[in-house]
Amino acid sequence: MGNSDDCYMIVIGTRPEIVKMAPVIRVFEDKGISFVLVHCGQHYDYNMSQTFIEELELPTPEYGFKVKETSPGAQTGRILSLIEGVAEKVDPKVVLVEGDTNGVFAAALAVVKLGISVGHIEAGLRSFDYRMPEEYNRRLVDHISSFLFAPTYTAEQNLERESVWGKVFVTGNTVIDAVLQHLPLAQRRSSILEEIRFERFALATAHRAENVDNPQVLRNLVEAFAEAPIPIVYPVHPRTKKRLRQWKMWKGLLLKKNVQVLEPVGYFDFLLLMKECEMVITDSGGLQEEATSPNIRKPVIVVRLSTERPEAVQAGFATVVGVEKKAILAAVEQTLKQKHKLPLVSPYGDGAASDRIVKALIREMSG
Ligand code: UD1
Ligand code: UDP
Repeated sequence: MGNSDDCYMIVIGTRPEIVKMAPVIRVFEDKGISFVLVHCGQHYDYNMSQTFIEELELPTPEYGFKVKETSPGAQTGRILSLIEGVAEKVDPKVVLVEGDTNGVFAAALAVVKLGISVGHIEAGLRSFDYRMPEEYNRRLVDHISSFLFAPTYTAEQNLERESVWGKVFVTGNTVIDAVLQHLPLAQRRSSILEEIRFERFALATAHRAENVDNPQVLRNLVEAFAEAPIPIVYPVHPRTKKRLRQWKMWKGLLLKKNVQVLEPVGYFDFLLLMKECEMVITDSGGLQEEATSPNIRKPVIVVRLSTERPEAVQAGFATVVGVEKKAILAAVEQTLKQKHKLPLVSPYGDGAASDRIVKALIREMSG
């Protein structure tokens, strides 16, 4: 049954949500505010989920699931039903979600149907790219949330333009809090560099559905990595590994001398790889932000047609280059020659986003 102390329920489900929710959870703990942590189970492999809970020293979720359905509809439906069951038991006043995954959409929809308010962290991002499942998720969640924590003024403007119902707060992105809090720990604890074959390298990741579920685009990425004028360290997302195997590119990739393929690495290892690389080549959302952290400051080649993170482009960190091999290789070449210094401040905030989010919530709930 509902417990009056359990005012807040926090839902996580994928690798980036765990990283970005960790600093918020830490503020809840520091302030002695009770909450119920729920893992909806969208990511379930140890190296996509539990390793982050352990490294970030998060409490074990009170409710945890593994949702291994492969179709997006089945996955969304299953999470919706699981979160409904938990929310009925916990009876929170507010449910916090972060980002734009299917799990976030399912959780938000499940709880608003029970009359529970949603607080959406990282609200207002828009790629205006209708091929992306995340673009639907983030728009839908923003329109059913009571509290919208926009990381930047650009995100706030997107929400104003769409006349969302909820109250908007500009807070910065908690990803910067996470990088500032964890890089010093990563530098002490990670030994990943001992495993890296190259002195200088670019760090690559790719997992966006519109990229890796398209065999031609996936081939472009693999060939660009193999032919790049700098060696590539490439931790491969499970979705991408599945596609590389399906389309018979996996074994060939493992033989490329210019590419060191890794399994997905933990957060500390990844932070260190980002700190030590020459540049990041990615279609990830979070990496576009993390690279701007004052203690990372790396150029990012965004292998996509669009970005919902224009601030990183405007600040000079990121360049959106598309998904053609030639364009990617030209961008890597150009980045290697580039002399200009990257800004010392991040467009995504100062590392106090989580504090602002929790303070705003407390004010709203007590007012
Ligand atoms: C999801 C999010 C994406 C986010 C990414 C973070 C959606 C629509 N997409 O994409 O926005 O950037 O997480 O990494 O919500 N798999 C495993 N083990 C796991 C997780 C996934 O093997 O622990 C494989 C499965 O084959 C699964 C596939 O990856 O079917 C896709 O996983 P899913 O969570 O649906 O989407 P992601 O590509 O991870
Ligand atoms: N990350 C990691 N190990 C990896 C790849 C990524 O720890 O092998 C971290 C990265 O530092 C960032 C988050 O995972 O915090 C980004 O996740 P992803 O790119 O999967 O999702 P997105 O940000 O695109 O939603």
